[in-house]
Amino acid sequence: MIANSTLILTIESTCDETAAAVVTTGPQILSSVVASQAALHERFRGVVPEVAARAHVERMLPVIDEALNKAGISPRQIDAIAVANEPGLAGSLVVGLIAAKSLALALGKPLIAVNHLHAHIYACQFVEAESIFPCVGLVASGGHSHLYRCESPLDISLLGGTIDDAAGEAFDKVAGMLGLPFPGGPAISRAAVSGNPRAFAFPRSFLNEPDRLEFSFSGLKTAVRYAINGIVGDRPDEVMPLSEQTIADIAASFEAAVVDCLVDKSFQALRITGYKTLAAGGGVVANRLLRKHLQERGLAAGIRLLISPVEMCTDNAAMGAIALEKYSAGRFESLDLDIRAGLVR
Ligand code: KG4
Ligand code: ZN
Repeated sequence: MIANSTLILTIESTCDETAAAVVTTGPQILSSVVASQAALHERFRGVVPEVAARAHVERMLPVIDEALNKAGISPRQIDAIAVANEPGLAGSLVVGLIAAKSLALALGKPLIAVNHLHAHIYACQFVEAESIFPCVGLVASGGHSHLYRCESPLDISLLGGTIDDAAGEAFDKVAGMLGLPFPGGPAISRAAVSGNPRAFAFPRSFLNEPDRLEFSFSGLKTAVRYAINGIVGDRPDEVMPLSEQTIADIAASFEAAVVDCLVDKSFQALRITGYKTLAAGGGVVANRLLRKHLQERGLAAGIRLLISPVEMCTDNAAMGAIALEKYSAGRFESLDLDIRAGLVR
């Protein structure tokens, strides 16, 4: 362990991953434990809030124990407890918040609030020796697709986001239409490898409105539905008689449309803010095509491009290391801290 360093236990339960990590000055990860609930939600093709909340209750304490054990520290050695209290599913958020408050109270340690979306951006700090700030932050996940002006770790404000579905949600829904497994992102990405991204001309919302920093993916989803119906007729719930090649072509064309929107809007945000760094995180940023296009555009535009490590794109507690910055600034919360389920900031 590093002398004179701060040790923070971070807790994450915003959606369907129960996670805890011990992070320290650097930032460095001493341990990171994620108990995925994917197997519980798979048959529903989406996260069922009630199921998620109950699973968090069962897993939270074992996950915290494991994180402390793996880091080789006792609870008393921790300097603060951090918890993601916004945004997310209300029932899920409450479980993490109660665990964090109880530990803070019992151990007499300060409590730090983490904004889950800001934490997705901060994951990029693990691939960069210098500070990642100031930067434009792109968060593309199952629940959110948003662009941020990130002046500093403590001054992050929303530039714009999706007006309907999140990018990951669109991946999950389109995968369902194609008969691919949940979660849809990795499945579509795999199917797309042998597909033609130009086979279907799917819409790319707002790309010709360079000052509009918003996304919309519901029209794209509908366009995929119509493309499928055009081939198989209006029988959405029947066994999909699409050929492997057609599935691959639709997957590739859909993936290309989402990636074009995310990349273009990110670079429009860079132009608008004048920032020279882009930091991207969230589950969808694990997508190979998106990473490739971001890198290519970044190189061409002379932008410092930071992409969250693949294993830190999907939900985890280590990205809650943004709490180290709040610790240094003395930004602590009282035990009155509440969840903010729906508010995106
Ligand atoms: O960040 P995350 O774990 O959870 C939320 O905060 O929502 O993101 C999960 C989302 C899912 O919608 C999943 O389909 C998507 O990330 N995803 C991907 C890939 N891996 C995960 N989307 C596209 N390509 C991928 N390789
Ligand atoms: Zn997330």
